[in-house]
Amino acid sequence: MSQTNTSTESLFKSFHSEKLQLSNRTVMAPMTRGFSPNGVPGEDVAAYYRRRAENGVGLIVTEGTGINHPSSVSGASIPLFHGEESLNGWANVVKEVHQAGGKIVPQLWHVGMTRKKGELPNEEAFPVGPSGLSLSGKEITEPMSEEEVVQMVEAYAQAAADAKRIGFDGIELHGAHGYLIDQFFWENTNRRTDRYGGDLVGRTRFAVEVIEACRREVGPDFPIIFRFSQWKMNDFGAKLANTPDELERFLEPLVNAGVDIFHCSTRRFWEPEFEASDLNLAGWTKKLTGKPVISVGSVGLDGEFTSFSGAGTTSLDGLIDRLDLGEFDLVAIGRSLLQDPEWVRKVEEGKANDLLPFDKEALKKLY
Ligand SMILES: Cc1cc2nc3c(=O)[nH]c(=O)nc-3n(C[C@H](O)[C@H](O)[C@H](O)COP(=O)(O)O)c2cc1C
Repeated sequence: MSQTNTSTESLFKSFHSEKLQLSNRTVMAPMTRGFSPNGVPGEDVAAYYRRRAENGVGLIVTEGTGINHPSSVSGASIPLFHGEESLNGWANVVKEVHQAGGKIVPQLWHVGMTRKKGELPNEEAFPVGPSGLSLSGKEITEPMSEEEVVQMVEAYAQAAADAKRIGFDGIELHGAHGYLIDQFFWENTNRRTDRYGGDLVGRTRFAVEVIEACRREVGPDFPIIFRFSQWKMNDFGAKLANTPDELERFLEPLVNAGVDIFHCSTRRFWEPEFEASDLNLAGWTKKLTGKPVISVGSVGLDGEFTSFSGAGTTSLDGLIDRLDLGEFDLVAIGRSLLQDPEWVRKVEEGKANDLLPFDKEALKKLY
């Protein structure tokens, strides 16, 4: 690999925000693993997260976990965030991570229209979304009724309440990548003419209600992280906001609703989001909202998500430079941490030569 020349010290400074204190700036990015039979995370999943906490990860964001709605996930081994058994499983994950000195938030998820008809669990449950359209715009089901939208908001709120009750350190709402919340944001999938649709601000209405309802359940002091992206699973070039002004109009309602930290999902953290500035999406979000932000995307790797072909290791110099400049506050690491539970510890100890490339075989195991 190319050697990291800059000191990585700034990655290991503690992080203090109004509601969340962390021992360093590293975050484990949420990564679906599919190792939770019948939606229940077991001892192996708890041990997987614990290993990251033991090796110094500042904040763990769990894989996306399904809220209480019959079509919230695609697949019987995706962890659920409702029902006694699944929540007991998560409580055990929290216990293990806390015992190892770590902090952890669940990523609350509904896949919306990306679910295929007939998928497990609940084969009979249809995909749901703002206009019943797939990401490519194909009509699949009826648009959600207003009543269904309101019920969905409450399902997120229930998950937030449960997260607090079983000891998590906050929640992350998955508003990225073309899943349900993002389907409301995106004009291609949201053609509604009621209060949940319309212009960019109208399309934030669903997220706003979700955030407000979660806030109502968890109280003023519990951290709410919101993950969003421009890109979608089927369209890496998609944009919700084409200019900083549009981004500001998009973010303002989310801030007012109660988001504490934004998790700005990009596939390459060094790419400028708009012309005329080097700032990436996280940098712009911080500048426009004044909120702490998490950046992400190919940290330490020379190939981006989602080319699941593997990727070699690279220098962290560019990342550290941006962190030093205060462009973002926290750094999420995905595939490097999926591959190697000791990634953070190795970086802290300067063991650059011991860092592992990402091998797609790692997806089959819980290292
Ligand atoms: C196997 C895998 C599963 C993922 N699952 C999720 C997920 O459940 N929720 C989410 O927001 N992002 C998910 N992502 C995206 C990652 O959180 C992260 O943004 C992406 O991998 C880029 O970071 P990296 O380049 O460090 O891997 C997943 C990524 C991978 C590799």
